[in-house]
Amino acid sequence: MVIQSRIFIAKDGRQIVIRSIRWEDLDGAIEFINSLADEGFETAQRVTRSEEADWLGKRLARREKGELIEAVAEVDGKVVANSGVEKRTGAMSHLGYLGMAIMPGYRGIGIGTELMKVLIEEARLAGLKVLFLDHYETNKAARGLYEKVGFKEAGRIPKAIHRDGTYVDLVRMVLEL
Ligand SMILES: CC(C)(COP(=O)(O)OP(=O)(O)OC[C@H]1O[C@@H](n2cnc3c(N)ncnc32)[C@H](O)[C@@H]1OP(=O)(O)O)[C@@H](O)C(=O)NCCC(=O)NCCS
Repeated sequence: MVIQSRIFIAKDGRQIVIRSIRWEDLDGAIEFINSLADEGFETAQRVTRSEEADWLGKRLARREKGELIEAVAEVDGKVVANSGVEKRTGAMSHLGYLGMAIMPGYRGIGIGTELMKVLIEEARLAGLKVLFLDHYETNKAARGLYEKVGFKEAGRIPKAIHRDGTYVDLVRMVLEL
């Protein structure tokens, strides 16, 4: 389902639009994911136009089927954040897995908090009972955001990630709706 667009003023005074992603966002989505990849962000890899078109097409289809709740943030016509809740299926269809990323240069101004509010509200409306997510233990900004909106640590996989010669725990957090 498409969410209702909303506007808020970020901490630095910029006007932010929170809305559902559209097919017309393809070029912006490529720039967005490549900026995360260039930064060295954990799970992002540079994409070609055809790979991103494939990703976006699948995302729109999953949203239409009710398998995905998603929201992006737009500033001056540019997509600067992507987020979503993937619904689980069968006996776990009341669970949703949450993911979020904000482009470098747009962090720490409240966009993550606003996207969280929207996803949590939409997840409740969709009848979900539990949201969960994972973060690297070293990701202090993510931890701060998730705790701020009420997520609690539910456990961790020690040394789950091996990067640059160092082991990092993967932390799971949960929010009951
Ligand atoms: C993690 C992320 C989503 C947070 O979103 P954001 O828009 O920067 O967060 P907000 O500005 O809404 O800040 C929310 C809270 O997070 C915490 N926070 C934000 N940046 C922080 C930082 N650099 N260090 C510590 N805590 C921080 C604070 O508690 C903040 O609350 P406050 O505004 O009351 O001080 C964003 O930084 C990001 O996309 N990072 C790269 C991708 C990523 O890590 N995704 C999550 C993977 S699990």
